[in-house]
Amino acid sequence: MTLYLDNAATTPVRPEVLEAMASYLTRFFGNPSSHHEVGEAAASALDDARARVARVLGMRAGDVVFTSGGTESNNAAIKGLVLGSGKRHLVTTAIEHESVLASADYLARLHAVDLTHVPVDAAGVLDPQTLAAVLRDDTALVSIGYANNETGTIQDAAALAAVAHERGVPLHLDAVQAAGWLPLAGLGADAITVAGHKIGAPKGTGILAVRGRLPFEPLLHGGGQERGRRSGTPDVAGAVAIARALELADAERVDEAARVSALRDAFIARVLALVPGARLTGHPTRRLPGTASFVFPGTNGETVLLELERRGIVSSSGSACAAGSDEASHVLLALGVAPDDARTAVRFTLPHGLTASLDPVADAVAEAVSAVGSRG
Ligand SMILES: Cc1ncc(COP(=O)(O)O)c(C=O)c1O
Repeated sequence: MTLYLDNAATTPVRPEVLEAMASYLTRFFGNPSSHHEVGEAAASALDDARARVARVLGMRAGDVVFTSGGTESNNAAIKGLVLGSGKRHLVTTAIEHESVLASADYLARLHAVDLTHVPVDAAGVLDPQTLAAVLRDDTALVSIGYANNETGTIQDAAALAAVAHERGVPLHLDAVQAAGWLPLAGLGADAITVAGHKIGAPKGTGILAVRGRLPFEPLLHGGGQERGRRSGTPDVAGAVAIARALELADAERVDEAARVSALRDAFIARVLALVPGARLTGHPTRRLPGTASFVFPGTNGETVLLELERRGIVSSSGSACAAGSDEASHVLLALGVAPDDARTAVRFTLPHGLTASLDPVADAVAEAVSAVGSRG
């Protein structure tokens, strides 16, 4: 049997979520824009899903836009809020997901936006004062990952929002990895990205919540659905699914975080004790409960992953986008990890609901690293 420890890449659809969405694919199949009872049934499910999402995010129902996932939400947030503002300066960090970095780069190339990558420390933490120092009168937006997808390092989102607001700048939080593990409401974020497939909803579902008062230029133009912020017939079943998944994850969050982080800490300690030269990447304590990320200097990350898979454990080198490539992770390089060491990265991301000790996994990691080392 395979033990799946790559939950930051994606998760299976939860049975409760599948059950909640199923009838909106078949029986209540209407187009929510239609003015008849079939359409109205779909529209009321969509409204209900929007209200549920808004509660978890601490936003208004009208702020919530359903999207196709994290990539779309990040593109829409960054392009939409910067272009809508009429201002020309965008701030992010070098450790963001590619969907943030590439959206920012697009604005710099084609819209003459001035881009600042504000530095993080060696653990991947952005100091609010460092952020404050780069903000300007013409700063349109700050876009920051709440928790990093490769290391799990968590930012002090509320402090970053406070610093941005002091200068009248809105904060967009990419909460794709944080959702289900960390609180999303009450942080002061002006825009929040969530991806359904990381929290037990299907792939192709996402949320972008943007506070209503902010000028926003949509990515998709057309029939004006989603209050004009995302045209196209909404995926009602997908909206029902992501709303249910987010609500469930949020309700379970505190218990899950306590149990899973204890298992993770024991796992990290055992790996560091058993594997000579192994180092944890990211922050030792301010990290997502489910993330344990290492470098194993002197090995090759991809080969260690293959050795682990032979032992029934599936994990990854970091971001799924970079998986299989030999390139060193841009995140680890930005943290000051040497390129040769960065190429030895292995990330384990644990599921909600985990109860079993990961000692056997740590033992398998030690065997896998030693098998690669003795060959190399
Ligand atoms: C932090 C972060 N942002 C955005 C994304 C993109 O989300 P999606 O896969 O839904 O496009 C990911 C996916 O791994 C991610 O980890």
